[in-house]
Amino acid sequence: MNIKSICCIGAGYVGGPTMAVIAQKNPDIKVTVVDLNAQRIADWNHTDLKKLPIYEPGLDEVVAEARGRNLFFSTEVDKAIDAAELIFISVNTPTKNYGAGKGMAADLKYVELCARQIAKVATSDKIVVEKSTLPVKTAEAIQNILDHTGNGVDFQILSNPEFLAEGTAMRDLAVPDRVLIGGDSSSSKGQQAIQALVDIYSSWVPKENILTTNVWSSELSKLTANAFLAQRVSSINALSELCEATGADVQEVAKAIGMDSRIGPKFLQASVGFGGSCFQKDILNLVYIAKSLGLDEVADYWHHVILMNNHQRDRFAKNIIKTLYSTVNGKTIAFLGWAFKKDTNDTRESAAIYVADLLMDEQATIKVFDPKVTATQMQADLNYLNTRPEDENATYLKTERDPYAALEGAHALAVLTEWDEFKTYDWQRIYNKMQKPAFVFDGRNVLDRAALETIGFIYKGIGS
Ligand code: NAD
Ligand code: UGA
Repeated sequence: MNIKSICCIGAGYVGGPTMAVIAQKNPDIKVTVVDLNAQRIADWNHTDLKKLPIYEPGLDEVVAEARGRNLFFSTEVDKAIDAAELIFISVNTPTKNYGAGKGMAADLKYVELCARQIAKVATSDKIVVEKSTLPVKTAEAIQNILDHTGNGVDFQILSNPEFLAEGTAMRDLAVPDRVLIGGDSSSSKGQQAIQALVDIYSSWVPKENILTTNVWSSELSKLTANAFLAQRVSSINALSELCEATGADVQEVAKAIGMDSRIGPKFLQASVGFGGSCFQKDILNLVYIAKSLGLDEVADYWHHVILMNNHQRDRFAKNIIKTLYSTVNGKTIAFLGWAFKKDTNDTRESAAIYVADLLMDEQATIKVFDPKVTATQMQADLNYLNTRPEDENATYLKTERDPYAALEGAHALAVLTEWDEFKTYDWQRIYNKMQKPAFVFDGRNVLDRAALETIGFIYKGIGS
């Protein structure tokens, strides 16, 4: 089967970049990305490529190449569904914040809505691809909805989870370690569907990097890949505390263990804690699935990855308070960075939100500079956390569009995101602007400790 028309429901951090690359690499396929959020679609269609709704290095160039040729962004969901032979579901699957499984299970309401919409609108056979990260066995529910509420057309369900990381999405999409496609190979229609998706990726991904499995393996592999990655960060973060208590240096330890090829050097960077929209959500989801199956030990095992991460954020904030003579009331703490990692404007579950919240509990004023995150977003993040009234958030959290202004008069500075530009700042100038003693809490171990100490800063990294 030669696919000529694709629809993707959800124009977010995954749908947008992924479809841009599929369109770029398959100029003969029409790719339409739809979303209910009209502002997001308008931003994707903005003539000024700097106004795209997602900041991702290299994304603008790919959009510039494909948009208007065979890549389209639209709010006309029904029209795009009906016209497509293959439909990606790439909507958000946040942690449920109500009812059964609250705070743990994935909220599948958006996915179910998509399935119902597809069933209602489709007047010809469709391949429906789960791109969102979903609990194992979700495909069964989708199939059920499609078969029982549809117009009698055939639906083949595939699982094709996305492994891109924000900040490196374009490279991850261009040269993926693997593309995973789960499908039902026991029927000829299932085989055809799998092959159709394999063909789309084969335009640029070597065959040996395209892995086909059954649907359940594919769904579960996505959740567990994230759990394994997050587990490494929590493992090194657990060691960081041990290092601080013993005089070992976590960066030296990470290097020493990472040189064992069985362990490897990646994802051993100690930090204030992992953030992002997926690690916490997906591990909680895994924990919930294990619990639901009565596998309490499995659930507890993975849950500790999250508990360690919460502890690391708390520990970082408490260390600031303790070091500043156990009172930060009325003091100003400058934050460099608010995004959950560099090279993205995404702030979901960023450690910065939690650290700010803890410091604001102690009535400190936070002055933030982040190169890509807006003041409105920062306030929205705190308001979403919902630990104090919105006007208090606005009183205690200030935003600056210039890093030097953020540091003016600050008692301490905390690095929450590892933006490269921070390394290039005039640190002598910053020192002169800050209250003395001037403390640096480097939550990412990215600044030059020796250089800062020579200037006169008191430097505290993670795990040394
Ligand atoms: P997102 O919130 O950025 O985007 C989701 C989009 O879907 C939103 O714009 C929303 O308006 C839209 N949407 C929701 N319901 C809709 C509907 N019924 N019709 C049309 N549009 C609808 O989310 P994201 O970060 O792109 O993540 C999407 C999925 O991909 C999640 O399951 C996530 O776990 C997974 N994932 C994310 C990443 C990542 O780095 N962000 C990486 C891999 C996988
Ligand atoms: C992660 C995975 O890396 C992707 O493969 C996956 O597709 C994605 O989740 C998803 O499912 O959403 P992402 O969250 O975008 O990608 O970013 P990561 O690079 O994994 O970083 C996550 C967090 O861990 C960041 O806050 C980062 O700073 C932190 N981290 C990462 C560390 O603290 N130390 C490290 O060594 C690595």
